Amino acid sequence: MDTISHRIPYPPRLALAHTPTPLEPLKRLGETLGVELYFKRDDLTGAELTGNKVRKLEFLLADALDKGADSVVTCGAAQSNHARATAIAAVKVGLSSRLLLRTPDPAHPPSLEGNILLDRLAGAEIVWISYEQYGRRAEMFQREAESLRKVGKTPYLIPEGGSNALGAWGYVRTVEELANDLETLPGGTEQPTTIVHATGSGGTTAGLILGVQLTGLQARVVGINVCNDRDYFVRVVGDICETALSDHQLDLPFKRERDVEILDGYVGRGYGKTRPQELSLLRDLARTEGIFLDPVYTGKAFFGMARELQQDPDVFGERVVFIHTGGIYGLFPMAEQMAALL
Ligand SMILES: Cc1ncc(COP(=O)(O)O)c(C=O)c1O
Repeated sequence: MDTISHRIPYPPRLALAHTPTPLEPLKRLGETLGVELYFKRDDLTGAELTGNKVRKLEFLLADALDKGADSVVTCGAAQSNHARATAIAAVKVGLSSRLLLRTPDPAHPPSLEGNILLDRLAGAEIVWISYEQYGRRAEMFQREAESLRKVGKTPYLIPEGGSNALGAWGYVRTVEELANDLETLPGGTEQPTTIVHATGSGGTTAGLILGVQLTGLQARVVGINVCNDRDYFVRVVGDICETALSDHQLDLPFKRERDVEILDGYVGRGYGKTRPQELSLLRDLARTEGIFLDPVYTGKAFFGMARELQQDPDVFGERVVFIHTGGIYGLFPMAEQMAALL
C-alpha cells in the first residue's frame, strides 16, 4: 500500500472495506473551532458496510475462514452497527450469522428499522436476549455455539464490537493510511496530530494506539467514551493492546496508564440515549458540511470534541483528525427525537 507497510507485521486480511478512506479538511468548521480540522471518512468504507467495524472484520473473518468456520456468532445492542456489519460481511464471504441482540423485553423485540432491518434483509438469525443475559454474554455465546455445533455447523465467535487483539489490526491500517495523507499536508507527518474518535467497545482505540506506535507517527490518540467510564476503558483497551503485543510478538513501548487516553464526561444520558444539544450539533453539521454523524457514537464524540475546543482551543494542539466511524443507520430509529429540531 505504501512505503512503510512492509514494516508492519499484519495478520492475514480479507479485502471487504473500500479503503483508503479520504481525509477531508473541514476548513470553515476548523476556523470556528480554532484548529486545523480534518475528518477521516471511515463512514465511507462502504454503503452497507459503512463504518469502523468492517475494518476489524477484514481480519476476523480471514481468521474465521482459516479456521474452517461456516457461521459466525456475535452480539451487541439492538441497533448494533457491528452486528449489522458482521451479518453483511458474513454473507459476502459465504458464512451464515447469528446475532445476540439485547433488548429490555426479548418477548417484544424492537421494530424492524435501521440496522435491524438490514440484519434481517441480509438473512441474519437474530436471538433477542435480555440485559441480564447480555451481562452473561460469554455464557450465552457458548450456548449458541454449542447449539450450532449440534446441527453440524462450525461457528466462529466474534466478541462485542469485534474488539479483540485481532480486530484491532483494522485500525493499525487506518493509522498507516493517515500517515500517508498527512505526509502530503503542510507540516507533513512532523507536525503533531491529535486523533479524536468515539470509544464504544475499545477495539478502535486499541488499534489506533498500536498503529501510532508501529508507524512512529507523531500523534496523540484521544478516545471519547460513549458508555462506561475512563477506568473501564483504560482496562479494556490496555488488555487488547497487551494481548496484541504478546500474540503478535510486537516489541512496542506500550504503557496503559500513559498511552490510553480516554476523555470522559460525554456519555450524557447514557449509552444510546441522546440530549437535544447533541442532536442539534449533529443537525448543524449536516446543514453546514453535508456530513451526517450518528446519535450513539460519532455524534457524542464530536459533541465532546467541539465542547472541549470551545473551552480551550489548544486542548488538542493545532492539527486535529476526527475519525468518522460511521453509524448512519442508527439515525433512522431516532426520527422522532430529531423531528422537534427540524
Ligand atoms: C459508528 C461507531 N463508531 C464508533 C464505535 C466505537 O468503536 P469501538 O467499539 O471499536 O470502540 C462503534 C461501535 O461500537 C460504532 O458503531
